[in-house]
Amino acid sequence: MTAIVPTAWIWMDGRLVAWDDAKVHVLTHGLHYGSAIFEGIRCHRATGGTAVFRLREHLERFRDSAKIYEMHLPYSVDELVRAVRELGRANGSPEAYVRPIAFTGYGEMGVDPSGSRVQVAIGMWPWGAYLGEAGAQRGVRATVSSWTRIDSRSLPPQAKCSANYANGILAKLEARAGGYDEALLLNSAGLVAEGPGENVFRVRNGVLSTPPASSGILRGVTRDTVVQLAIEDGIPVQRTGFTREELFTADELFFTGTAAGVTPIREVDGRPIGTGAYPVVRRLQTLYEDALRGRAPKHADWLTYLGAA
Ligand SMILES: Cc1ncc(COP(=O)(O)O)c(C=O)c1O
Repeated sequence: MTAIVPTAWIWMDGRLVAWDDAKVHVLTHGLHYGSAIFEGIRCHRATGGTAVFRLREHLERFRDSAKIYEMHLPYSVDELVRAVRELGRANGSPEAYVRPIAFTGYGEMGVDPSGSRVQVAIGMWPWGAYLGEAGAQRGVRATVSSWTRIDSRSLPPQAKCSANYANGILAKLEARAGGYDEALLLNSAGLVAEGPGENVFRVRNGVLSTPPASSGILRGVTRDTVVQLAIEDGIPVQRTGFTREELFTADELFFTGTAAGVTPIREVDGRPIGTGAYPVVRRLQTLYEDALRGRAPKHADWLTYLGAA
């Protein structure tokens, strides 16, 4: 969870507006019908200046999410890259979470979104660890949710649509009520899909596996990053589904996400995972942090510097 601490500016519909003026009408279509798509991106201090991690990939996913819902974005990916950089420079907060959102605005009421114009806003605020600093170090306690992950026959999980998060909210509430840090959702085939805001990985005998894109997950940018870093480091990776019982027999389990980073899971439903040592997780945390901070020359192109105006 990250508490929102206001910054000076929000980019809204093509211009910077003061934080307190970035408002919408209460009858906004997206608020009523979940007709909104969004992104979560990380901005941080790196060697060479303040940088945004894999900005273009996030904005391409943003564009794809809009496409799935036939939401006509009035800005190209290049224009949005410029908008994020402009906002980052104006706010000047180096460690920040960046949240672009596009939604059908105020206009008509009814399920059909076509009568309401698409609005786009980008906010950013200082960064906090989503599953806590302690979680990243000691590992989090997860529970398998009784809620099934949405699937592409009903609500396409690969679109980062606000409506998807109703499913995540139910899982999160249940996990919290049970005293757990996070939920793990199974898909309708009974295989492990992901967390409410994270992808999941399993390590067994030195091999990394993560559910495939077809298993009801969001194609995480951090998931892709970890897969690439692992392969480069000689760790074998499989994009294959695994079952609930394979959670319990894992040597290591971990979540990945822009907000969660690379976070070990130390327990599932009260059962300890592995020995409690996370050699693969620790290695991947280091490689990921190096890439974020600009210490991995091979991946210099993952960083977009805010630069000068
Ligand atoms: C449902 C879901 N799965 C996975 C992720 C991880 O994606 P990423 O690594 O791109 O942040 C997120 C976070 O955006 C998410 O909301």
